[in-house]
Amino acid sequence: MKILVTGGTGFIGSHTVVELISAGHEVEILDNLSNSKESVLDAISKLTGVSPKFYKADILDRARLTEIFSGTKYDVVIHFAGLKAVAESVEQPLKYYENNVEGTINLLNAMLNTGVNNIIFSSSATVYGDPGVTAYTEDLPTGRNIPSPYGKTKYMIEEILKDIAMSKPEFSATILRYFNPVGAHPSGFIGEDPNGRPNNLMPIIMKVAQGEYPELSIYGDDYPTSDGTCIRDYIHVVDLAKGHLAALQHIKPGISVYNLGSGKGTSVLEMVAAFEKASGKKIPYKIVGRRTGDLPEMHAIPEKAFRELGWKTELTIDDAMRDTINYLRALA
Ligand code: UD1
Repeated sequence: MKILVTGGTGFIGSHTVVELISAGHEVEILDNLSNSKESVLDAISKLTGVSPKFYKADILDRARLTEIFSGTKYDVVIHFAGLKAVAESVEQPLKYYENNVEGTINLLNAMLNTGVNNIIFSSSATVYGDPGVTAYTEDLPTGRNIPSPYGKTKYMIEEILKDIAMSKPEFSATILRYFNPVGAHPSGFIGEDPNGRPNNLMPIIMKVAQGEYPELSIYGDDYPTSDGTCIRDYIHVVDLAKGHLAALQHIKPGISVYNLGSGKGTSVLEMVAAFEKASGKKIPYKIVGRRTGDLPEMHAIPEKAFRELGWKTELTIDDAMRDTINYLRALA
């Protein structure tokens, strides 16, 4: 298939591009490089033997989108491009609504104007807000008590996709709700390397391991969990990338929603211990106050993706730590 991947040089996008090319798909990448580096394209070429066509473009640039879509007839768009720093979204909500919601509307217009009816969308477990349970199935209500503008943009985009599907029977949107992606490609060529100060746990642990930050601040150890720290469902980014390949093979008209997670919960302290075991390095940490919006515990029930897409995670937290450390060595 001929696929346009927006955000294809980012963390999840780049790993997905590698899986898509390896499976024989023809991939083009659109990215504004706001949270990635152009060198990722070389890494993709080295890994796959293919240099995908690259458009350095912004999804807010409608004229550019029109130009790109008039040049090629895509079968599918896989849409990763978007801002994802939760705290920044609280400070600058309009920036998030503009980039994520307006950007997606622009992309959808460019698609529909050129007869491209298939989209796979990068959503997040954050759309469930605070559902009052710890094990998440796709049929839980979404949109209630979402803690950030970032999370609300994901929810709003899902709603927009549902409305288009109602109005257009041939339209197909596959919504993938990610849990917590971690790890790196086992080659060490690509991984998570955010521009600026990271927000998520793993990249912060990586910065502490590299000596860039003196310690990790753990947001609370008084939650009602086994060790008092929050529990999340961490998923190896290569497994997550393969989830997109599985979704691509099962595109059908209408809306399809899948949780992409491992189904297992791991605490912050367990993540630190796993990193220390894999690296042989101590990660200094201190316990600080809770972070607003954090839920004590959540994990995916990924059965639907297994039943309908034949996909499940195969890699473990230890695999993710080994690959992260390998990637850090390659960066150094
Ligand atoms: C966060 C977002 C979520 C978003 C996801 C992916 C919040 C409340 N949620 O999920 O909307 O979809 O990132 O970008 O921001 N932690 C520490 N110290 C740190 C960083 C994190 O203790 O310096 C803890 C957090 O409290 C949490 C766990 O590590 O328990 C994972 O945090 P993080 O990687 O930010 O992911 P989420 O909070 O699950």
